[in-house]
Amino acid sequence: MRTETGQVFTLADYKPTDFILERIDLTFELHPLETKVTARSLFHRRPGAATDAPLILDGDELVMTSLLLDGIELARDRYEETGRHLVIDGLPEEIAFEITVETMLAPANNTQLMGLYRSNGVYCTQCEAEGFRRITYAYDRPDALGVYTVHIIADKATCPVMLSNGNCIGKAGYGEGKHFASWFDPHPKPSYLFALVAGDLGVVEDTFTTMSGREVALKIYVEHGKEPRAAYAMDALKRSMHWDEEVFGREYDLDIFMIVAVSDFNMGAMENKGLNIFNDKYVLADPETATDADFANIEAIIAHEYFHNWTGNRITCRDWFQLCLKEGLTVYRDHEFSADQRSRAVKRITEVRHLKSEQFPEDAGPLAHPVRPTRYKEINNFYTSTVYEKGSEVTRMIATILGRETFKQGMDLYFERHDGKAATIEDFVKCFEDVSERDLGQFSRWYHQAGTPLVSVSTEYDADQQEFSVSLEQIVPPTPGQARKEPMHIPLKFGLILPNGNEAELDGVTGGDVTEDVLHLTERSQTFTFTNIPARPVLSLNRGFSAPINVDYTLTTEDLTQIAVHDRDLFARWQALNSLALPELTGAVKALRKGDAPTFNPAFIAALLAAAADEDLEPAFRAQALALPSESDLAREIGANNDPDANLVARLSLLNAIGLTGRKIFANLFETMSSSAPFKPDAASAGKRALRNTALTYLSFADNDPTLARETFDKADNMTDLSHALTVLAHHYPDSAETAEALEAFAKRFEGNPLVLDKWFAIQATTPGPDALDRVKSLMESPRFNAGNPNRVRALIGTFAFSNLSGFARADGAGFAFLADQVLDIDTRNPQLASRLLTSMRSWRMLEPQRAEYAKRALAKIDSSASLSVDVRDIAERMLQ
Ligand code: ARG
Ligand code: ZN
Repeated sequence: MRTETGQVFTLADYKPTDFILERIDLTFELHPLETKVTARSLFHRRPGAATDAPLILDGDELVMTSLLLDGIELARDRYEETGRHLVIDGLPEEIAFEITVETMLAPANNTQLMGLYRSNGVYCTQCEAEGFRRITYAYDRPDALGVYTVHIIADKATCPVMLSNGNCIGKAGYGEGKHFASWFDPHPKPSYLFALVAGDLGVVEDTFTTMSGREVALKIYVEHGKEPRAAYAMDALKRSMHWDEEVFGREYDLDIFMIVAVSDFNMGAMENKGLNIFNDKYVLADPETATDADFANIEAIIAHEYFHNWTGNRITCRDWFQLCLKEGLTVYRDHEFSADQRSRAVKRITEVRHLKSEQFPEDAGPLAHPVRPTRYKEINNFYTSTVYEKGSEVTRMIATILGRETFKQGMDLYFERHDGKAATIEDFVKCFEDVSERDLGQFSRWYHQAGTPLVSVSTEYDADQQEFSVSLEQIVPPTPGQARKEPMHIPLKFGLILPNGNEAELDGVTGGDVTEDVLHLTERSQTFTFTNIPARPVLSLNRGFSAPINVDYTLTTEDLTQIAVHDRDLFARWQALNSLALPELTGAVKALRKGDAPTFNPAFIAALLAAAADEDLEPAFRAQALALPSESDLAREIGANNDPDANLVARLSLLNAIGLTGRKIFANLFETMSSSAPFKPDAASAGKRALRNTALTYLSFADNDPTLARETFDKADNMTDLSHALTVLAHHYPDSAETAEALEAFAKRFEGNPLVLDKWFAIQATTPGPDALDRVKSLMESPRFNAGNPNRVRALIGTFAFSNLSGFARADGAGFAFLADQVLDIDTRNPQLASRLLTSMRSWRMLEPQRAEYAKRALAKIDSSASLSVDVRDIAERMLQ
């Protein structure tokens, strides 16, 4: 394990390298325990750098067996290995020189899954963020761009496939039972985009003809036998390539594009130049084994990694503080892609649900950090939903403020100005300032100030003057290291809905800047007055979730219903239903904690059921409306002193009340939304399945009977319906015979398919209540579990800790103690996985005092452990601060 350094990296300390890397030539002689890597790099001293500056290369757990300068062994007094660096002195002042480093690696023993490792017998690499330094000594930083040539030597029998970035420039036999392949990537790139794969894999092939008529070979490599399950990924890839040409004018730039699916992977996927490596979970899909959500995720992640080719690879980041430059922008691009492929409104609703359940809690807790952080101890801990999802929202706001056309011009300028370079957030924003001639200085605070802004709203209608005024006040809450905040530029899409359901024409406005349908809040408090408004309107604010904020605006049930029924923005309708649901839930929690039975406002239930039955609305939207705020949404709404048991029961009570009142509607939906046509993964079909499955949930609440769920389980012909029925059984009837049989049947049927068994683990891990922990513990003993595989660990332990609020935060603290032990154990093998799991406790301070105390003890236990990775130490420290 890596030893702890406690070093803090700060943006202010950024300095260019003293030497410039020109090219690097790598040779890998692959062996599970003794891989020899020879790295020959050509450098020259940067003009202006000190003439006596040493060359300082990064390394991590390396065994160096030879070091040459221009082909001659370097004297021992010319260099030093410090543990994390190789420091070489006395290098030429002006002429280029070549450094040759030979290292020995044991990929089979690399359980961190960073650098070169083996996954199910396949050699593969993960270099972002700092994995390349685990392969050889190098400038392992994103601003050191070099041209790579890679030679791979391996066993013919076990490694018929040998891949790296760029184009294959040669393949031949190489002595007894071996062969080699050479790859050349003409595009200069940073080390984090290097990749190598070697093994015995099957391949699915296709081609794509680019906008300028070049033919690109497309290859997706998977384990033998899994080829048919890569068809959807291939289709998504071709659609992504086409979309990036149409919408962003971006063409692919090599003759071949490859994707490899591996089964051991710390994250979702990786955009290595020309050779994307994926967690197989985000490649493999067919109707029998993948849910509609899996199909949607695969489409989004295939697109995301492909889009990185321009936003990330052609233009990369100057340093890791700029991570959101590539991630926030690329998430924005994949969101837009999915919105164009599917229903834009429903896509936006799912994005916002995700943002609120992941990023908002992060931004409100001890791990809050700016979209562009200025310090870190371990960069892997900054691949967060703040950098990714909030980063995407910030990009979206630029598009909202500038408008579609000007945003597009800004992107074109960015591609033109920074192609082939390593850029910063300031460079990016400058492009939009230049094309719009707008000062985005205040807007840029979105990159620098952490915390979710809270906007409080009040309105007033003056019937005599026919004036409607909107008063807004913004507060950005304090976050770690940032006590005081400056006011933000918050673009709020809005509309004024008149009593007849029509929208008021905007005539004049005073008090601030309004452009078309966007109100620009720029002061701490500001009152906008609209003139010539014929009747008291209802204000629909933050349409489309144009700004990632919390809004405090108490509207009457009538006004919210007006929005829910009449708003022309579907997202706003969903948001209104959501705003109606939250007080129902918080009210129920209050009642329950006083020992009373919860009661619900019939007007809310009526509004919800009206949406459910409204055939003018697409089924996917209706399913989203019926999904209710999550337990974590409710916890956030309550804010402090949360009792997860009460939150759970409140939510179940509301589901029950809706189910009872709407029984007829749900029975009807369950019938009419079913289809006898063969399965299709498209959005419209998925929407029908979602609505039908939602109806099943409500029916099983109304009837308090597992029979229908069991029947649905037995008849299901696709994974979406099958796993939903199993979820209803396992969550609501955990002790019934129907459930036990169904769980067993499911596991037997999918015995050889670990990705499907992950669903089986996850469903059981999220069964609510205090028994969940024992269930999780006994599932860990199952031969189907594998503690060494990140997907298994996340499916069982991760799902339990992140998604089972009542089970994990159970009153006696046993859930937290369990997680602490797991984190400590996993940390010895895979620090990234361990620290990610630990972030499940980020909202611990929002719990009631007794549970919070147990959480704190678990964190303190981790923190006091003598041998922690930098990753886990960093998270534990920040969570206790
Ligand atoms: N750049 C990858 C993406 O597409 C994520 C890789 C993160 N890996 C890591 N070990 N931190 O989002
Ligand atoms: Zn990414």
